[in-house]
Amino acid sequence: MNTRTLVAAAIAIAALGATATSAQTVKVGIINTYSGPFAEPGELIDRGITLYMKQHEKDLPPGVKIELIKRDDTGPQPDVAKRLAQELITRDQVQLLAGIVYTPNAMAVAPLVTEAKVPLIVMNASTPVITMKSPYIARVSFTLWHSSYPLGQWAAKHDIKTAYTAVSDYAPGADAEEAFIKGFTEGGGKIVGSVRIPLQNPDFAPYLQKVKDANPNALFVFVPAGTQAISVMKTFGDVGLKQAGIKLVGPGDITTDEGLDAMGDVALDVITMGHYSAAHDSSTNKAFVQAYQAEFGKDQVPAFEVVGGYDGMAAIFDVVKAQNGKIDPDKTMALLKGWKYDSARGPIMIDPDTRDIVQNEYVRRVERVNGHLANVEFETIPMVKDPWKVLNAK
Ligand code: PHB
Repeated sequence: MNTRTLVAAAIAIAALGATATSAQTVKVGIINTYSGPFAEPGELIDRGITLYMKQHEKDLPPGVKIELIKRDDTGPQPDVAKRLAQELITRDQVQLLAGIVYTPNAMAVAPLVTEAKVPLIVMNASTPVITMKSPYIARVSFTLWHSSYPLGQWAAKHDIKTAYTAVSDYAPGADAEEAFIKGFTEGGGKIVGSVRIPLQNPDFAPYLQKVKDANPNALFVFVPAGTQAISVMKTFGDVGLKQAGIKLVGPGDITTDEGLDAMGDVALDVITMGHYSAAHDSSTNKAFVQAYQAEFGKDQVPAFEVVGGYDGMAAIFDVVKAQNGKIDPDKTMALLKGWKYDSARGPIMIDPDTRDIVQNEYVRRVERVNGHLANVEFETIPMVKDPWKVLNAK
């Protein structure tokens, strides 16, 4: 090697060193459900994360990178989620956490993010109280009160005089039940029965048979989105509730867009309240659906979980960009408070007081559109704050 080559090599090595030290890699731990019977929402959230990263990685400031460290909590398993959060915080030294499909997992992780001051962006888990369990939690998804309380009010106004409620026996189910009953009875509706169904391996038939015998005008159901929602819908048809003229209503979780075609015609005319439909009529959503199908297949339809993952990444990118990759937890939370975004679901904001999402809720009916079942929105309740927090504010 002659001197010139040596000098050139030395400069090249120095330059490499300089980029290595000036580069900011933000480590984001993703705690999500990737395996087992509860994995479907997690897989959809992951698609949203992947799509956003792919579209926007180039928008990060020069030298700033986001590294995702993904972990599988295997379902509503608070002990697993807690261990994963501990490992991500102490061993992997993540600066941010995100994901979390199931409420019990969010509750288990909350004390750890407070102690370690690692902001957590909740992309699904939906019991209202989660955001109150740590000042380092913000939520981009929804609460069961966002959907089920206005749905109860709507049902009472639309010729439904009597209703039965059936929900999964864990926190979000209790929230959905309480919210619907409050909205419905305040509007003059009467509850003729309520039942809670085991979260693990549920057999819906005996419960729905009881509902059929009680013959209410409507059955309100909440089960976690995914395989259980498809199963409860099929059982609703098999046990003959639809044929008996009982209307099925619930939060958007029971008619997720990706599951509709698998549910089949029994889902037709089901009324739900939800924050996202793939059929939402806006240019932002049309571009979103197009990009989703380009990435995951022409026959794929994004459901609300995809939007949770996607919008959560949008929030993460915005806080990373604003801090040029140097994450300060308190600055991050200040940036998240009042954060606004033009989402595929419509305009969204993080409430600065509660760190919970503010978003439109839509009344939707399942209809056949161009040969496929779709959640067709026909009424909008604009910019709903979590009603549970509004009602319980001192
Ligand atoms: C939750 O556990 O918070 C949860 C899971 C699935 C849903 C809604 C809520 O569809």
